[in-house]
Amino acid sequence: SRTPVTITITGAGGQIGYALLFRIASGAMLGPETSVRLNLLEIPQGVRAAEGAALELQDSAFPLLSHVDVYDDAARAFSGANLGLLVGARPRTAGVERGDLLAANGGIFGPQGEAINAGAADDIRVVVVGNPANTNALIAAAHAPDVPAERFTALTRLDHNRALGQLAEALEIPVGELRQVTIWGNHSATQFPDVAHGTAAGDPVPALLAARFGGPDAAQEWLVDEFIPRVAKRGAEIIEVRGSSSVASAAAATIDHVRDWVAGTPDGWTSAAVVSDGSYGVPEGLVSSFPVESVDGAWRIVQGLDVDDFARQRIAASVAELEDEREAVRGLGLI
Ligand code: NAI
Repeated sequence: SRTPVTITITGAGGQIGYALLFRIASGAMLGPETSVRLNLLEIPQGVRAAEGAALELQDSAFPLLSHVDVYDDAARAFSGANLGLLVGARPRTAGVERGDLLAANGGIFGPQGEAINAGAADDIRVVVVGNPANTNALIAAAHAPDVPAERFTALTRLDHNRALGQLAEALEIPVGELRQVTIWGNHSATQFPDVAHGTAAGDPVPALLAARFGGPDAAQEWLVDEFIPRVAKRGAEIIEVRGSSSVASAAAATIDHVRDWVAGTPDGWTSAAVVSDGSYGVPEGLVSSFPVESVDGAWRIVQGLDVDDFARQRIAASVAELEDEREAVRGLGLI
């Protein structure tokens, strides 16, 4: 369309920002018909890096890119925003206690929620990438009472894509054949990657895994001992192998999340952390990953799935961690 979509990217001078900006400007996120205006938000130490990225965006001559502006002030950066990609966060560094980390992030995501509440466009949609992503989204949403809570989400699409990648490799099938895989819970090591409802070119994944590993018990053993921990700890594996954290894959997952949210999920469900309505026993208000479909520009939690005892326990463990985080930020007065 002629009116550009305004996208505010926080932490735009960081690594994921650098991988994200050029794909957004190329049209990979909102399609080849939609022009974009990019508001890059950084803290003062990050402003030069964001300005450098802005120069390179100019040098890329993307026809869909209408404006790039760099800010160190959240109110200005979110003014008129249709999309907020909240990437910048206080990193977990050695020796930092969880309470201190949550407090530091509360100091970021609270004011950003307020800025969104005060000045974003009526159709604002937010995805939080910066960790701890689910609880940072909870904090931002709590500071934006005039924005419908369902517009605040956190990224678990990277975990979802990692699960697809591992299944495709194990089953020796193209990744594009896989459907109905789910990440439940927190974007953390407690997450539950669930293949019970998965299909590959229409065949049930559990049966394919049983055939591949020599029976249902062997398949379950592979899921518990290999697949689930590998997906949940893939971030650490990337750091070990690459010598640096997941960046391009995180940016790709962010693109996927927003694209599907805006354009819909005609091929069935994906995973996203959304505000719970109590579905599947996840306490209302927690930002938890679910199987979701996007219909008319809104995420809907897929209803009515069978959840067996194994899955129920795994989901409960991750949800308990989310409840702990919510209690901690309540205790700190952050929500
Ligand atoms: P980075 O350290 O390269 O970049 C972060 C940027 O955020 C820095 O430029 C910093 O100056 C900026 N920043 C910090 N506080 C800010 C604030 N209040 N406002 C605006 N900008 C601010 O880190 P990287 O690699 O880009 O990762 C960013 C975040 O994404 C981290 O929290 C990381 O843990 C998280 N992450 C989440 C994933 C997910 O699947 N949800 C996957 C990978 C990373």
